[in-house]
Amino acid sequence: MASKPIIKVAALCGSLRKGSFNRGLIRSAIQLSEESITGMNVEFVDIAPLPFVNTDLEVDGKFPESVETFRDKIGGVDAFLFASPEYNFSLTAPLKNAIDWGSRGTNLWADKPAAIVSAGGMFGGAISQCHLRQVGAILDLHFINKPPLFVQAFQQPPKFDYANGDLIDPDTKEGLKQVLVSLQAFTLRLKGQ
Ligand SMILES: Cc1cc2nc3c(=O)[nH]c(=O)nc-3n(C[C@H](O)[C@H](O)[C@H](O)COP(=O)(O)O)c2cc1C
Repeated sequence: MASKPIIKVAALCGSLRKGSFNRGLIRSAIQLSEESITGMNVEFVDIAPLPFVNTDLEVDGKFPESVETFRDKIGGVDAFLFASPEYNFSLTAPLKNAIDWGSRGTNLWADKPAAIVSAGGMFGGAISQCHLRQVGAILDLHFINKPPLFVQAFQQPPKFDYANGDLIDPDTKEGLKQVLVSLQAFTLRLKGQ
């Protein structure tokens, strides 16, 4: 049987804090893609160095260096994984800022498949996911719909190691793996492979 072509996935985290649970979801996704999913290469793309969007920073069609670096990274992938914490019932400002930079000039999100996962309080970040889908619609991102993954980070049993944000709950890990498998299948379908 022919092996699956490798798909490249850029993983963006909406939280900048060191012990972020959402960053922990991305670390776990990278590990799962390396250990138990054939044909998927997930790479973390840091949004922390990006300045606030300000079109005055765009000079002669060029972006600031950190933005150019970010755009190079997201421009060369087949799909996106967003780990989207919820701040006041929406996606976080840093994630929205990163999405806005990717949309300037050539919209680098266009026609790309994406998955969203989230860890948060009451609804596990579900409302942030809804808002991110709304933003993604105008950018022509194509989100997978199933399976959903909303991790209620503060409920028992413990989902994360609070010291470093590592995902420790086996059921959540399995849920995350199924999200990746679904994203892979959808990406290959969109590419006609
Ligand atoms: C400004 C702010 C607003 C927040 N609002 C919400 C919210 O609306 N819903 C929610 O579930 N959690 C909310 N939280 C709690 C976060 O979900 C929680 O801090 C979570 O751990 C953040 O993700 P992280 O661990 O990846 O940093 C808020 C946290 C902050 C700092």
